[in-house]
Amino acid sequence: MTEKNTVLIVGNGGREHALGWSFAQDPRIAKIWFAPGNAGTAQVGQNLPLAATDEEGIARWAVREKPGLVVVGPEAPLCAGLADRLRSLGLRVFGPGKDGARLEGSKSFCKELLVSQKIPTARAGSFRSVDEAVRFSESLTCPQVVKADGLAAGKGVVIAGSHAEAATAIRQMMAEKAFGEAGSTVLIEEFLDGEELSVHAVTDGKNLVILPGAQDHKRVGEGDTGPNTGGMGAYAPAPKGTPELLQRVTEKILVPTLQGLRDRGIDYRGVLYAGLMLTKDGPKVLEYNCRFGDPETQVLLPLIETPLWDLLGAAADGNLSGLSVKIRSGAAMTVVLAAPGYPAQPILGQSIQSGPDLPDSRLFHAGTKAGSRGVEVAGGRVLAATGWGKDLKSARDRAYGLVAQVSFDGMQFRRDIGYRALGTQS
Ligand code: AMP
Ligand code: GLY
Repeated sequence: MTEKNTVLIVGNGGREHALGWSFAQDPRIAKIWFAPGNAGTAQVGQNLPLAATDEEGIARWAVREKPGLVVVGPEAPLCAGLADRLRSLGLRVFGPGKDGARLEGSKSFCKELLVSQKIPTARAGSFRSVDEAVRFSESLTCPQVVKADGLAAGKGVVIAGSHAEAATAIRQMMAEKAFGEAGSTVLIEEFLDGEELSVHAVTDGKNLVILPGAQDHKRVGEGDTGPNTGGMGAYAPAPKGTPELLQRVTEKILVPTLQGLRDRGIDYRGVLYAGLMLTKDGPKVLEYNCRFGDPETQVLLPLIETPLWDLLGAAADGNLSGLSVKIRSGAAMTVVLAAPGYPAQPILGQSIQSGPDLPDSRLFHAGTKAGSRGVEVAGGRVLAATGWGKDLKSARDRAYGLVAQVSFDGMQFRRDIGYRALGTQS
């Protein structure tokens, strides 16, 4: 152990608690900090009073403390250039620079790269004028999809069932600025039908390590009903992500994406997270994210046997080729426990009761904080009850076993996580 085996994790969600927990399993790790973290991360490391988007504060702190590795969790600081800033100060950083993060931060940049690399994706047009967008929309059949170009916290996508609905969405995004500047450019694209799959790859800009396919549950209600959320639960490996499919995704999607980034002079070190639609014509890219998914991370990390210090460190160093990465057999599932009123208007401040730790499971914190009455609800997605085991069914039993030990006023969660793979729970 050297004093350089220290890690700063930027962010405060379930993803960051899971990252911290995974680092903490490694006896070589001397210290973990979080900027800013939550009540759960405070149990595995030290929370710093620095917001994830406080670039100045994080840079000043990092120059002083010189962490051995920085992992940037969320998209906003990556899109704002935090990784570039910290690299310019000589730090080892896992996460793409501002140029690479455009893959998530600008849907039109992403689409342009996909099309130029002949990567399967929905046919789309990108527009800066309402009239042109409406004209293109009318040339496509319905349903069709209207997307704000920039970051809109997962809310900037409208599946329009009619041309009138599409026109309304276009006007709301472009003229009424429902998502601010994120909607000054819109994409209109054809609707893709199928099942969704999240495929994460860790990359050093040249080599890729593909992780098991995961399935998220984006809608708030059981049976995929109600409004979209950040994600209400996930499991991995998803049976749809067969070795053959992942091989095809690597060859036809991930490798050409990395090549497209390199052709544009972008040295991308971090996670390439492809949101795929498995259509009858094969997998197509719905979107790219430039970071680990939340809650996908909570189910991927228990499956990765290789220490994160080695995996993410090698990617940060541009040196993944020598690393052989071990993935455990078995499966993991996470169930998000959300605040009442989430996603529209979450009610916060309730105190949280939880039980003792159970084997092969972990209660990852997301929107929590230490308050005067113990741990309190401090965000829409509050906790991610995660279990793992030899198969998906035992992972589900453990995840829901943990859920049964937690309560807070108005707690809501889905009882059907994993239903596509397992059927609904009786
Ligand atoms: P995105 O942020 O682009 O991934 O979109 C958010 C969600 O909208 C996706 O996870 C899909 O459920 C849905 N979506 C996006 N694009 C399409 C599309 N072209 N066809 C069908 N559904 C889509
Ligand atoms: N789970 C979806 C996301 O992280 O974007």
